[in-house]
Amino acid sequence: MAKHRGGPLPNCMEKVAEDLGAKLPLRFPKTALMEDAAGVSLKTAEIVRETLRQKPDALLCFPAGSTVTETCRILKEMQQRNEIDFSQARFVSLDEWVGLENADENCSAFLRKHLYEPLGIPEKHLTLFDPYAADLTAECKRIDTYITSQGGIDLMILGIGMNGHVGLNEPGESFDSCSKVVTLAETTKQVGQKYFSAPADLNRGIMLGVRQIFEAEKVVLQVIGEAKKDIIYAMYHAQPTKELPATVMTLLSGGLVIIDRAAASRILDLL
Ligand code: GLP
Repeated sequence: MAKHRGGPLPNCMEKVAEDLGAKLPLRFPKTALMEDAAGVSLKTAEIVRETLRQKPDALLCFPAGSTVTETCRILKEMQQRNEIDFSQARFVSLDEWVGLENADENCSAFLRKHLYEPLGIPEKHLTLFDPYAADLTAECKRIDTYITSQGGIDLMILGIGMNGHVGLNEPGESFDSCSKVVTLAETTKQVGQKYFSAPADLNRGIMLGVRQIFEAEKVVLQVIGEAKKDIIYAMYHAQPTKELPATVMTLLSGGLVIIDRAAASRILDLL
């Protein structure tokens, strides 16, 4: 699959054209419709397996959300059956909460619990955001430099937020930026409470930028459950726009949306 490396990015030209009155045909991201959540998780795990078969030391990037947890469990099963080898696989953070008092429930902790520890990934193969770094700009640069030095991300798995964010890239964030710190949207602050055992003071996030999504070799957006059906309807009825970051999937040659019937219930006529 092709990468977008160097040069200017499209950066919502469709939105500009629409604002000027152009009537553009809608384009849809490549989409795999699965019967249920189990189907989405299995297909995603198969893509991870194939990625590591082709490149055993691939650089992988996982989201820290409810959607991916079943995929993590299937990957562990595949490992137990010797169908997949994680011994050389490397992982980089997608996103992280900034300023949490308790680090035990942040994104890194979530992925340690569901993915890195069950799979036995050694610490030297993990490059994770430190949201407590004194200089967060330098922290962003550290992660960007690492990704570039590794030749880019081979497989990025994303989830979609209830407001269309991907990897905490909130509505309005530029499509042409690398790692950065952002102020979280109200929806994200509210929905994000589900990850914590006590109310969490969510204000900012540190994450990879949309440019790094463009530059990944393969990008899978997993979508599961009826709660996502309205944001999915909006995503499939919008031109690519930074106001709905998940629409970036339309612009990726190596992008695939893997969605279950419940989340796709309002767009079945399009698929
Ligand atoms: C959260 C996470 C993202 C995740 C997304 C969807 O804010 N930080 O990495 O992909 O939102 O989460 P979920 O799968 O729980 O719906």
